[in-house]
Amino acid sequence: MTNRMAAALLIAGAAAVLAAGAVAAGQGRTVWDGVYPAEQARRGAEAYAQACAECHGADLGGGDMAPGLAGVQFAYNWHGFSARDLFERLRVSMPPDQPNRVSRQDKADILAFMLEANGMPAGDAELASRAGPLGAIRFLAEP
Ligand code: HEC
Repeated sequence: MTNRMAAALLIAGAAAVLAAGAVAAGQGRTVWDGVYPAEQARRGAEAYAQACAECHGADLGGGDMAPGLAGVQFAYNWHGFSARDLFERLRVSMPPDQPNRVSRQDKADILAFMLEANGMPAGDAELASRAGPLGAIRFLAEP
């Protein structure tokens, strides 16, 4: 390879990285943009009380064994991940003894309730229970 070709490839590569960065930065919504309606969080609170509260606490503050699901420490655990990553965590592993006991829809509602409990504002659109749309929402600890 000539030096000129190598230089051209380097520049093309750098441009691609920059373009990808711009897409990521400009990419859609975060959890602070009103990504669930208040009604969904209310449903989620009911499902949470039945399936999660015994371990994570009625106020999401955590219990003897289980970590809190609201507050600074929780929010920074997930900072920079997507709503999809967090949803997958609940979907695959919670409640620990039998994750399938709680439906996908109930888990999306519970996620809405968790966002509300973390101070993230309600909006109009329903929080989806599908990976695609959830993947487009970034979880940030602060607005
Ligand atoms: C039997 C107790 C128990 C129940 C019920 C339970 N969890 Fe958990 N959960 C845990 C424990 C223990 C951990 C930490 C260890 C682990 O990851 O398994 C945890 C971890 C988590 C985490 C990761 C926290 C973090 O900071 O990364 C989330 C999110 C979560 N649970 C959500 C839920 C939700 C939502 C429900 C209800 C659908 C639920 N859990 C039900 C015990 C429980």
